[in-house]
Amino acid sequence: MCGIIGYTGNDEKASGKLIEGLKNLEYRGYDSAGIALIDNGRLVRYRSKGRISKLESKIKNKKIKGTTGVGHTRWATHGRPSEENAHPHTDCKNRITVVHNGIVENYNELKEGLRKRKHRFTSQTDTEIFAHMIEEKINKGLFRAVNETIKKVRGFYAIVVIDRENPGTLVAARKGSPLVIGKGKKENYIGSDVTSFLKYTKKAVFLEDEDVCLITGGNYSVYNRGKKVIRKVKDIKWSHKQAEKGGFPHFMMKEIMEEPEAFEDTILGRFDHEKGTVNFGNISRAKIRKVKNIRIIACGTSYHAALLGKYLFQKYAGINTVAEIGSEARYSEPVVEKNTLIITISQSGETTDTLAAFNNMKAKAFHSLAIVNVVGSTLSRESKGVIYTHAGPEIGVAATKTFISQLAVLYLLVFYTAGAKEKMTRARMKKALGNLRKIPGMIKKICRDRKRIEKIAEKYCKQKDFLYYGRNIYYPVALEGALKLKEISYIHAEGYPAGEMKHGPIALVNNRVPNVFIAPQGRFYEKIINNIEEIRARQGTIIAITNKSNRKIEKNCHDIINVPDIDEDFYPLLAVVPLQLLAYYIGIKKGVDVDKPRNLAKSVTVE
Ligand code: BG6
Repeated sequence: MCGIIGYTGNDEKASGKLIEGLKNLEYRGYDSAGIALIDNGRLVRYRSKGRISKLESKIKNKKIKGTTGVGHTRWATHGRPSEENAHPHTDCKNRITVVHNGIVENYNELKEGLRKRKHRFTSQTDTEIFAHMIEEKINKGLFRAVNETIKKVRGFYAIVVIDRENPGTLVAARKGSPLVIGKGKKENYIGSDVTSFLKYTKKAVFLEDEDVCLITGGNYSVYNRGKKVIRKVKDIKWSHKQAEKGGFPHFMMKEIMEEPEAFEDTILGRFDHEKGTVNFGNISRAKIRKVKNIRIIACGTSYHAALLGKYLFQKYAGINTVAEIGSEARYSEPVVEKNTLIITISQSGETTDTLAAFNNMKAKAFHSLAIVNVVGSTLSRESKGVIYTHAGPEIGVAATKTFISQLAVLYLLVFYTAGAKEKMTRARMKKALGNLRKIPGMIKKICRDRKRIEKIAEKYCKQKDFLYYGRNIYYPVALEGALKLKEISYIHAEGYPAGEMKHGPIALVNNRVPNVFIAPQGRFYEKIINNIEEIRARQGTIIAITNKSNRKIEKNCHDIINVPDIDEDFYPLLAVVPLQLLAYYIGIKKGVDVDKPRNLAKSVTVE
């Protein structure tokens, strides 16, 4: 997720407006940035690594003219954060300039073709191919060149393009990534969202998927699949701060609402449902086939993803797997068996305990993989292989959408490994991949019903202690639910394997301690119902997360939260969402700053 902006009009200080817009888009990505303008037939481009302030100080004393330009603030997906990978990107002749938000799935093959046609590349990004492909067709005019180029691209994108020989004109196109036109007086803007131009105009035109638009200072026209279409002008009532959170009161709520997109972006291009295959370009099937043991190292929420990974690797790929908390693993002197794959999971890629534990073991590892969200982070550079979650930047300190995208990678990696080891038939693989494809839509449904969860939060927000229970793959979800409540509401909460309840926690049962059960129907259901009955027998309060069609459980519980029905192995991907929402609403009701809870940091880089 990056932030892009474009401007055309008659303001000679357009560069200032581009920078201002980028500052407001910085929550979308902040590892590098750049602007480019057409100044008297010349292309002027400035880029820098790091936050917008770095770029700003770089151009502070420069007299930048030009009334048509584009800008970009980056969240790297392809090519680590650096000046040469920062956008805008141009073609070999510096004629076409592009900014892009999205992922080009087939960029390798397109790049190969361009290389054969003598195009030289200056970055490791997927984006740069747009500039070269459009330049190849520019004799047909900018608008047509862009249209013909996007037809060849697979993936999702929002692009804004300028042509040095065509000042005063922007061409933009979107598919999957957001784009909005800002309608000004004798000037027009385009950006990833309204925050990029809200300071100058509140008149927004939201573009739809596959829209391509031609923008000049005085006018704009929108086409969809070659036909001219009308997109209504909307008056935006939001303040800038509200807009930055997409109209939501907190980043945490906004990021929970972004989970369908984060999941979709993370699995995109990594499997073929028809063929029943999974592909991770940088991990060879032959290598994975030789793996005999797996150790997964992580901290905090990432550790709960690791623990779920353990259950799935053992079930689907039949590989002995250990999940370890970084701060313990670094001093546990583990015996790293032969053919051990070491996987580290970390949103930031910088958590010291995970790094140190990995560094202690990596020399003995058969192979190592880092599952991280930040491109170019230390863990991604230290590991032999890296799989990026494409959740975009997460501002809320408590991890939400990055957890869901870590799980997305883990399910795919488990199926990939099981496939490589011939532990899953093609039919079973297709069914499993079919279930993964349903997840974004199902999470959307759960988010639509959030008012119901808010009511349950209202009911229990004054309680002092909570207990969360799950069996097998639902146990890590119970741990994550308890952690979210601790992080966001400062209420004491513990997650437990439900079978462990009678060996201790049952002593805490009374009518002031809510017990949250992850209880979808399936092979553990009867056992979970028995645990629920044991608590009810002692006047305990039961909140259950279960599948929609399960009406039987109503008589056993005080409150029920439904998730859509799906194969039992996929409920962890759904059941965690209501637990995030429950913690969020309880935190809100307790007046906690849910985006920046006390004593916590987004990434802990000290021991
Ligand atoms: C904590 C964060 O500091 O670190 C948690 O508050 C996070 O949200 C944990 O889960 C681990 O961080 P990472 O970046 O290694 O996943």
